Amino acid sequence: ATRKLLLLPGDGIGPEAMAEVKKLIEMMNADFNTGFQTEEGLVGGSAYDAHGQAISDADMEKAMAADAVLFGAVGGPKWDGVPYEVRPEAGLLRLRKDMELFANLRPAICYPALAASSSLKPDVVEGLDILIVRELTGGVYFGEPKEIIDLGNGQKRGIDTQVYDTFEIERISGVAFELARTRSNKVCSMEKHNVMKSGVLWKEVVAQTHKAKYSDVELTHMLADAGGMQLVRWPKQFDVIVTDNLFGDMLSDVAAMLTGSLGMLPSASLGAPDPKTGSRKALYEPVHGSAPDIAGKGIANPIAMIASFAMCLRYSFNMVEEADRLEKAIAGVLDDGLRTKDILSDGGTEVSTSQMGDAVVAK
Ligand code: NAI
Ligand code: MG
Repeated sequence: ATRKLLLLPGDGIGPEAMAEVKKLIEMMNADFNTGFQTEEGLVGGSAYDAHGQAISDADMEKAMAADAVLFGAVGGPKWDGVPYEVRPEAGLLRLRKDMELFANLRPAICYPALAASSSLKPDVVEGLDILIVRELTGGVYFGEPKEIIDLGNGQKRGIDTQVYDTFEIERISGVAFELARTRSNKVCSMEKHNVMKSGVLWKEVVAQTHKAKYSDVELTHMLADAGGMQLVRWPKQFDVIVTDNLFGDMLSDVAAMLTGSLGMLPSASLGAPDPKTGSRKALYEPVHGSAPDIAGKGIANPIAMIASFAMCLRYSFNMVEEADRLEKAIAGVLDDGLRTKDILSDGGTEVSTSQMGDAVVAK
């Protein structure tokens, strides 16, 4: 099989982290005949420098044609003054919009070797493996009206509008139920139906979708504020959490910090399956940004990017065994005590970005 990957390393530590994934791809092609075909493009500040856009139409076309996109990170102080429409983040927003990536998957996994250095008690996080499924293209970040009105009496009014339609809730909950079936078969849906109409509809549609197609999966509902509390109190009660754009933004950041450094956290953003082929558009990226404070020093942690590639193997190519082995290799090098600077607090052996990547490849 050929498997078409578009690599968009971006800015700052993005290219440094992506270099380690390239090593993996080369090794897998050579030793396991995986047939990955890679192309590379520019995004963010580096694209702006090359052609005045945060992503060119040509690279956008490559993204649409690829089986999956691997994205590094964008941004940095160098581009602080560029016009709003072509700022680095605009590249990522265009990718999400044009590829219709409505489902954002943010796992929170606590590697055993790092449980002791979590900000929570080790027994609360040890063995933690949950997945937050956040709706990414709807809700209050996009709903209309969205404006600031001058009320004329020295007062202004800021307005954002939370809007969800049935089909949006159906498709995001469908993703959550399907993922749950490949895991511990549990979904918890979070909203605020006690104070929000969109929350009433959310709960109703999730329940209907469950009844119609996924009644084998265990479904619970929780108010999103209580969910935040439970995530910190006893996160292992959850398997898959499905929630809207705003709550998902906050809850996934909370869950992320249960497990340690930003340098460890992968994510995936998925579109709808093609009705003919069943394949879906997808973009995989670390949760972290371009980290200008450490860029160019060779000390960035490449694990978030590598773990994002593991998600790509699992969700875009159904290479479940390979994904499992890659995740085991990550856990293995951590068990061996290898640490980039950001996760050094428990006193392991400090390694560089490229040494960490080499160690994962070797494992
Ligand atoms: P950031 O995630 O780049 O960095 C926050 C802190 O975490 C920094 O101290 C950084 O050194 C550290 N860090 C992040 N990733 C790391 C890694 N892999 N290894 C070791 N340490 C790591 O967030 P920040 O500083 O708020 O933003 C920097 C730039 O990145 C800004 O221009 C921002 O707009 C952009 N950004 C881009 C994102 C993306 O491309 N998806 C997401 C978040 C921010
Ligand atoms: Mg966020």
